[in-house]
Amino acid sequence: MRVLGIETSCDETGVAIYDDEKGLVANQLYTQIALHADYGGVVPELASRDHIRKTAPLIQAALAEANLNAEDIDGIAYTAGPGLVGALLVGSTIARSLAYAWNLPAIGVHHMEGHLLAPMLEENAPRFPFIALLVSGGHTQLVKVDAVGQYQLLGESIDDAAGEAFDKTAKLLGLDYPGGAALSRLAQKGNPDRFIFPRPMTDRPGLDFSFSGLKTFAANTIAQVIQQESELTEQTKADIAYAFQQAVVETLAIKCRRALKETGLTRLVIAGGVSANKQLRQHLSELMQQLNGEVFYPQPQFCTDNGAMIAYAGLLRLKQGEQQDLAIEVKPRWSMTTLSPIVTI
Ligand code: KG4
Ligand code: ZN
Repeated sequence: MRVLGIETSCDETGVAIYDDEKGLVANQLYTQIALHADYGGVVPELASRDHIRKTAPLIQAALAEANLNAEDIDGIAYTAGPGLVGALLVGSTIARSLAYAWNLPAIGVHHMEGHLLAPMLEENAPRFPFIALLVSGGHTQLVKVDAVGQYQLLGESIDDAAGEAFDKTAKLLGLDYPGGAALSRLAQKGNPDRFIFPRPMTDRPGLDFSFSGLKTFAANTIAQVIQQESELTEQTKADIAYAFQQAVVETLAIKCRRALKETGLTRLVIAGGVSANKQLRQHLSELMQQLNGEVFYPQPQFCTDNGAMIAYAGLLRLKQGEQQDLAIEVKPRWSMTTLSPIVTI
């Protein structure tokens, strides 16, 4: 079975084709980062309009990349939520209409299930059950995964997502949106001993997170430095970036350790945009070594938004006979725990 996957939930247009015998045979991505850069964040209406411009050409490019025609495709998967409603509607409308025209089944995929299953695209895929740490621009969640579609939410952020905190702190340091990766590069030059940021909500039980205080802590640190030294040097920016990143990484690691202990599991999956963070990957790898467990993460191109994870998640659901009727429906807010389990994997 070959599935065309379409991702348009935020500011990346992703189109890919997944073949259940050959694996990923096409992967096309267009990022809108430059379009939103001047505004310091994603402008929803601009995002929708750009998805309209880019999705059809990317579908053609994906078919050409795989050397396939429309007749070679067996189903179409698209991100139905969560995400920006206008952006989701563009991808869903194109996908649903194309499936109708090509007489194919269509399936609406949960964006976070896509992220969660992205490590399955790698050769060394995790076995079930495992704990998943989902860290993206919109979500920070710890999930117990017993099988595809069998998800128990153990904890989540009560305010900003980890990626959002990275982006907001990066903005305070004068970095362009989305500044997560740039902040991480800056942190490499940081002095580890200059600033210590708090590890929010680690001193009480539970698996929820709170990251908005770290951004405020960064803002206060910057204000204090400017008052004392009358300028914010590149070195100070790097020192703040280091302390911030270290606080996020250690906070995430403390909660992962707790979730593994509480559930007795030994496999950890990290996925979503922030899982591309080298420091986080290294820290969690060391933790899992200490715990005699294993850690799994997607290669960086499948950490951030992409069509491949949507094609793959859609294929699993189409294969077990799920499909969307002709209605074009999106779910800007959608809990992953409402998804149905997949039995035929
Ligand atoms: O999963 P994703 O592409 O989109 C959402 O579903 O939100 O995640 C994007 C987020 C952004 O906040 C971005 O700054 C962050 O992932 N990100 C990173 C890194 N690469 C991307 N954060 C920290 N370090 C990175 N290397
Ligand atoms: Zn995402």
